[in-house]
Amino acid sequence: MSNRPKDQNHVLPPSNLGSSRVRKVPKDSSLPRSVCDLVGRTPLLELARAGNGSRLLIKLECFNPTGSAKIRMALAMVRSAERRGEIKPGYTIVEPTSGNTGLGLAIAAAQLGYKFIGVVDSHAAPSKLAAMKAYGAELVVVDGPSDRPSTMLRRKKAEEICSSCPYVWWPDQHNNPNNPLGYSHLAEELDSAISANIDVLVASVGTGGTLCGTARRLRELGHSLITIGVEPEGSIIFGPPAGAYKQSGAGAPGGFPVGCNVDTEAIDQGLKINDVKAFATSRVLAREKGLMLGGTSGAAIYEALRQLASFPAGTTMVVIACDAGEKYQNTIFDDRWMIANKLLSDIAEHQVSGMLRAFNDSIALSNRQTANLNRYCSTAEGASARGL
Ligand SMILES: Cc1ncc(COP(=O)(O)O)c(C=O)c1O
Repeated sequence: MSNRPKDQNHVLPPSNLGSSRVRKVPKDSSLPRSVCDLVGRTPLLELARAGNGSRLLIKLECFNPTGSAKIRMALAMVRSAERRGEIKPGYTIVEPTSGNTGLGLAIAAAQLGYKFIGVVDSHAAPSKLAAMKAYGAELVVVDGPSDRPSTMLRRKKAEEICSSCPYVWWPDQHNNPNNPLGYSHLAEELDSAISANIDVLVASVGTGGTLCGTARRLRELGHSLITIGVEPEGSIIFGPPAGAYKQSGAGAPGGFPVGCNVDTEAIDQGLKINDVKAFATSRVLAREKGLMLGGTSGAAIYEALRQLASFPAGTTMVVIACDAGEKYQNTIFDDRWMIANKLLSDIAEHQVSGMLRAFNDSIALSNRQTANLNRYCSTAEGASARGL
């Protein structure tokens, strides 16, 4: 038997051609040839099911290269600029980023023949900055006087770089229509994986591309959909008050001009989740479900667990979990950091555990007990709002 590697393109020797004399196309001729071909087709996991048949499904975008959904839109923005002739090989791409867009653009740039400069601040997870550099990006770090993300300063710096250098292109993820369009495939993947109507879509919101782009395409595909956007408490996308928050990637600090990719018409509920609840959810999911997800995924899943039982029986709810938790080992998953930042809460973790357990228990139970579950989730939420 030959021990030729399975993934080499080859023409089978004549003895294997059989009598047809037709040259067979090797089975492995469509193997991916670039890391860019590995973007998408991420798995879908049923995280919870209620006794009334409602389900909570999580689209695990951490399985993309870079460990995040954002590489989908990074590729879409760059490819569209190439098609329009806005960039040519040798150009430099510049983007202010909190990390995940930068990781996607760093890979897209290196693989498609461009240089990438990420304008970042120290609010970004250090591992994201290190990875961006490893993918070949140049980093320009700008930090403001406060410990909040320097979102405005980063944009100003990007503007400066673009006006002082030739052959530079700024995708501007907050206003570039190819950001939301970059999630069309995500919607199509959901549509082909789920036979039911997708009733509720939940995602954390930063530029708005993930939630609004996916929702728009799902609606075009015929899904009748309620969308729930989640931002960190302290972010101002869905209104004041502004304040500090530690969820990295989602939200916008006070004074930030929210871009047009936050399509308020497409978002039915815009809610705020604080860091304590978001991070408690990420920590419980790692411990109890073996799922290591970032803090913004924690926030979206927290809200999904809280609301699922209040929707009619048989609801299909999908959360888009934006990124992997490995990037946050020194923060969300580090007890010392959590304590130092007053974010560790046994009560919040207990509440998340309780919601997961209640769904587990209810699988074999009746609609009446789903009402109990609904009551449990709102009581737990009430208790937590009162700081209990
Ligand atoms: C971890 C994380 N969560 C959520 C978001 C928000 O996604 P969007 O910008 O598509 O709204 C981002 C965006 O960078 C992110 O990095």
